[in-house]
Formats: sequence, C-alpha cells, structure tokens
Amino acid sequence: MSPNREFWTSSKGFVLAMAGSAIGLGNIWRFSYIMGKYGGAAFILVYLAAIFLIGLPIMLCELSLGRASGKGPLEAMTELAPRRTTLSFLTAVALILGAAAFVFKGMYFHAGVAGFFALGALLFGWGFLGFTVTFLTPLMIAVFYSVVGGWIIIYTIVSPLGKIFRDPAASAELLGNIVTASGGKYWVTVAAASAFFLATALIVMAGVQKGIERFSKIFMPLIFILIIVIIVRVLTLPNAKEGLRFLFLPDFSKMTAEGVMAALGQAFFTLSLGSGVGIAYGSYLGRSSSLPKTAFTIVLLDTIASILAGLAIFPLLFSTGLSPEEGTSLVFKVLPIAFGKLPLSALWGTLFFFTLLLAALTSSISMLEGAVQGLMQKLYLPRGKAVLLLIIVLGPLVPLTAVSSANFANVPKLGQFFTETLKLRSESFFAILDNTTCLWLMPLAGLMTLLFVSYVWGNKKALEEMNCFNAFDWLFSKIWLFVVRFVSPVLVILAFLKGLGIFF
Ligand code: TRP
Repeated sequence: MSPNREFWTSSKGFVLAMAGSAIGLGNIWRFSYIMGKYGGAAFILVYLAAIFLIGLPIMLCELSLGRASGKGPLEAMTELAPRRTTLSFLTAVALILGAAAFVFKGMYFHAGVAGFFALGALLFGWGFLGFTVTFLTPLMIAVFYSVVGGWIIIYTIVSPLGKIFRDPAASAELLGNIVTASGGKYWVTVAAASAFFLATALIVMAGVQKGIERFSKIFMPLIFILIIVIIVRVLTLPNAKEGLRFLFLPDFSKMTAEGVMAALGQAFFTLSLGSGVGIAYGSYLGRSSSLPKTAFTIVLLDTIASILAGLAIFPLLFSTGLSPEEGTSLVFKVLPIAFGKLPLSALWGTLFFFTLLLAALTSSISMLEGAVQGLMQKLYLPRGKAVLLLIIVLGPLVPLTAVSSANFANVPKLGQFFTETLKLRSESFFAILDNTTCLWLMPLAGLMTLLFVSYVWGNKKALEEMNCFNAFDWLFSKIWLFVVRFVSPVLVILAFLKGLGIFF
C-alpha cells in the first residue's frame, strides 16, 4: 500500500460515501421513468431480484477486491491474479462469437464493439476489465449524468420563485426548454450541464475525505425526510390508489425481454456497480470493518430510497392523469405538481431540488474518482492534473449530450450518422450513452467480476477480506459463496440471452 493513501476517517464515513454514490438521480429520476416504462410492479419484482441476487453479491466482490489490493480497479484486476488466464481467453472467444452473431443480424456497430472487447481481452487479459470499469463505463455515465445534474441545477434555481409550482404552463415551458431541449433556449441546458460537470471535477480535485465525506454526512438524511413529506401529501389525493396498484400489483404480461434487461441495468446503475466504484472506495477502507454488514446496509438504504421515490411519484402521476410512460421527463412533470399541492410549495420545492442536487454530486464524484486514481497511478500525475485531463477529454461531450438529450433535432448530422450510418436504434445521443453503459457495459463487467472473483482470484480469498464478525456475517458469507459461484452469473447470462432474443 502506498504511503500517502488517504483513508476514510471512520467506517461510518465509508458507508455514507458508498451510500452517497449509490443514492442519486438513479433512485428518483431514472428508477421512476424506467419502472413507469416497463410496467410497474412486475418490473419492481425483477428489479428486486436483480438487486439482491446479483447486485449485492457483486458489490461484495468489488469491495473485497478493492480492500485486498489496496489500489484502484485498474491494478486490482491485474495484480491479484495472473494477467491472462484460460477464462480471459474463453471470454475473448465468447466475444468473438457474439460479434459474429451481430454481423449475422446486420448490427455492425454492436459487432464492432464486441470485436473491440474481444481484442482487448486477448491482448490485455483481465487488464481490459480493469480498463473498462476504471475509465470507459464511469466516464460515459459521468457525461450523461451531468446533463441531468444540469437540469436539477436549473430546477433548484427557479424553485424559490415558486412559479413552476403554481402555474402548469410555466412548468411545461421550463420542461420544454430544459429537459427536452426543444425550445430555442437550449444554451441554458448546455451551461447548466457544464456547470454540474465542472463542479464534480472540482470536488474530486479537493480529495477523498474533504470532498466526499463532508457532503454525504450532512445531506443524505434530508432527502429521505423530504420524500416522506411528499408521500404523506400525495397518498391522500383522489385516485392515489391507482398509483399504488401500479406499484404493487404485478402484471407479468408487461414484462418483456427488454424490461428484464432494463431491470438488470437499473440494478447496476443504482448501486454504482460494474464501474469500479466499489473497488476504488473499498481500497480506501481500513481493515476493521465487516464487509457483509456494510454492503447490506448500502443496498438496503438504496432500495428504500427507490421504493420511497416510487411511492412519492406514482400516486400523484395517476391522480393527475399523466402516463407512466413519459420517459426521461417523468419526474420533471410530476414533482412540480406535487409541490404545488403542498403549503409553502416554493420552500419544499427548493429544499428538495437542492438536496437532490447534492445527492447527484455525491454520485457523480464517484464516477470520476476511480478514473482519477487510475490516471494518477498510470501516468504519475498529481491529482489536479489528472482531473484537468478528464475535463479536457470529456468536457466537449457534455454540451453535445445536453443538446441531444431527447432527440437529434438540434444536431441532425450527428443523428444521421448514428441512426443511418451506424444503424443504432437509440433516439438520442443521451440514450446511446445510457443504453450502452446500463444494458451492456455494466452487466458484462459485473459478470466478468463475478467470474474473476470465483474462478481466478478465488472466493476463499475474497471471504478472508470480508472480516466476518458475527453470526449474521458468517451466515451471509456462506450464502454469498454459493450465490457468486452458481446463481448470479447464471442469472446475468440468462438475462442477456433473453434480452438478445435467444432461447426464450
Ligand atoms: N448510483 C448512482 C445513482 O443512482 C449513479 C452512479 C454513481 C453510478 N456512480 C456510478 C452509476 C457508477 C453507474 C456507475 O444515481
């Protein structure tokens, strides 16, 4: 372990920071619109299965990898085990077969991506998984996340005026200008997204403890309280029951193959998995805390946050006659109405958007942290320069994503390139980033992490890292041992096969 590594000041600080990474826009904005789109209760069941049977085991893998290596994801994958093994070779073979299947289906872009990963796995073995989870995935997410973060900045700024809560026309106008970037004023969105991205970078520049812990400790509890206030209000509205029915009475006929993949992707996104966060944060963790308890706490908090967000949003959505399939703008349509129904709406609204902004920041800093750690170690850069490099490389992508958040209308040439030349079906640049990371990169990296821990590094070693203190930890770890070997990988593979329309 290098001498100048920072440590979390306490195990509680670590839990809060991990929870800070997990709880963010994913729980409120993304969970609501994805769950709405794929049919409510049935989606939630698949999602919960994915959280507890796939997400939680993977989080434990990541935390123990991080703590064992004491370094970031880049090193963890290459230093704990031989760089190239039979399994990394088999992975390359599987990817080549996948690429061939894509060529056969005429999906040349997908074929290219699979081919790229196959080559990486052949040349760099497990190092390629490290590269993906350190740089590729989290940085792509950081770009589109900044766009949503920018929307939240704008909502925080206009909330004190209260107009969007009182006047539906004002709310609709703001939504058009900002979220769908369809009005003439999309420069506001560009500025806000860039501001969010820069703010994230500056906090990361300030360093782990000062930057991350302080924020998380103060503000995370507030978001729970605010959501509960909304729930109490909206549950008494007419037709609120319809929303509860949507959330809790499953209709499996709506559960398509796409929905299953979406649930899996949301599980990865909301727990910040398959993108190096657990490994990077785990590497800062001292020896004294028990991992099973820590991981369980984080997953539970995150799941409660999502379910509460659903309870706050869907009863109102149904009582106002909106459709659950509103897409990315769903919460921005519903929340202003919710606050409009509370006394002192401007106050509640401002507090809510401000806290959400902080929750979004504690998440977005975790996307950059692993990459910064990687750049510092590989290129021997000081922290400040590493962050600067990220700003220069990623910076231009943020405005581009902001103006093509709902469609390609503002950038038609780019749209033509993606939809006609590359034959991608995503409706916006934003959706391309979102789909590539959540539906492909994270689940694949998660699967590879499971296989790496079970069959390459060895899950006995992972178990030693976990520090089981009591009967709960012990029982939990025994179950984990079985689940990471036989249950989680099989489920991820089945979800992929279903998503690709193969077999069933
Ligand atoms: N989990 C966060 C949320 O729900 C988003 C997030 C933070 C994330 N870090 C990540 C998602 C890394 C994927 C990968 O808002």
